[in-house]
Amino acid sequence: MPLDPRYTLAALDTIGSTNDEAKRLARQSDAPTLTLVWARRQSAGRGRLERRWMSPEGNLYWSCVVRLPLVGGQAAPVAGDLCFAAAAAVVATVRRLAPGVADLAVKWPNDVLLGGAKTAGILVEADNGAAPFAVVGIGLNVAWAPDDTPYPATCLAAHGGTADVARAFDALSAAFLHYHDLLITAGPTAVRADLDGLWARLGERIEVRAGAEPLVGVFEGLDSHGRLCLRLDNGRRRTVTVGDVFFV
Ligand code: BTN
Repeated sequence: MPLDPRYTLAALDTIGSTNDEAKRLARQSDAPTLTLVWARRQSAGRGRLERRWMSPEGNLYWSCVVRLPLVGGQAAPVAGDLCFAAAAAVVATVRRLAPGVADLAVKWPNDVLLGGAKTAGILVEADNGAAPFAVVGIGLNVAWAPDDTPYPATCLAAHGGTADVARAFDALSAAFLHYHDLLITAGPTAVRADLDGLWARLGERIEVRAGAEPLVGVFEGLDSHGRLCLRLDNGRRRTVTVGDVFFV
């Protein structure tokens, strides 16, 4: 499948982090929106909360520059919406590369789980300077999964999916473009609609680490901005904009 000509691709063998390289390109050159960085390996792959993202050959390390604002003149909320666009793109990719897979879920806001274990991580980083942009970074475990992570991890190959990283690149690039365009033309609600029914532990007790004190309560769903709604034990409702969900 040829890469859509709207992308500008930098395909690399080894790089520290594809997100860092995408940011460098976005800041230091006139790299257009949809500049894509794909590396076979990362020597300093990063996850959320500055965690390490193990990046040997065999998995997909994919980062895309999106120039902002896309919609409505506001950079920051749109960067948040790109998290959901990325999650929806990963879900579509997993369905394509591991057809018939059961137990696909999304741990809010954007970790994609297979059989309860993480198969992809998403790191969106925004630069709200004079020429605002976001980098959407996606690590998809295609052939290999680490075993020393805060959550159990898995890979597509372990679920009967492909172990071919080039196929994964093609599928993810096509799916992301679809959701990028949907975000622009129809807005974030339309993007999130494709994640309905996939939220892990909906209606169950979860723990959310969003500040100094962890919050524990029942996950009641998302509000109209994609924030997580939690019913605390004292009956009060809390909405969380940014946080890490843990299963209790
Ligand atoms: C997470 O779940 O904590 C997010 C992981 C994001 C990893 C990807 S791999 C491609 C891109 N480059 C990075 O350094 N990080 C992201």
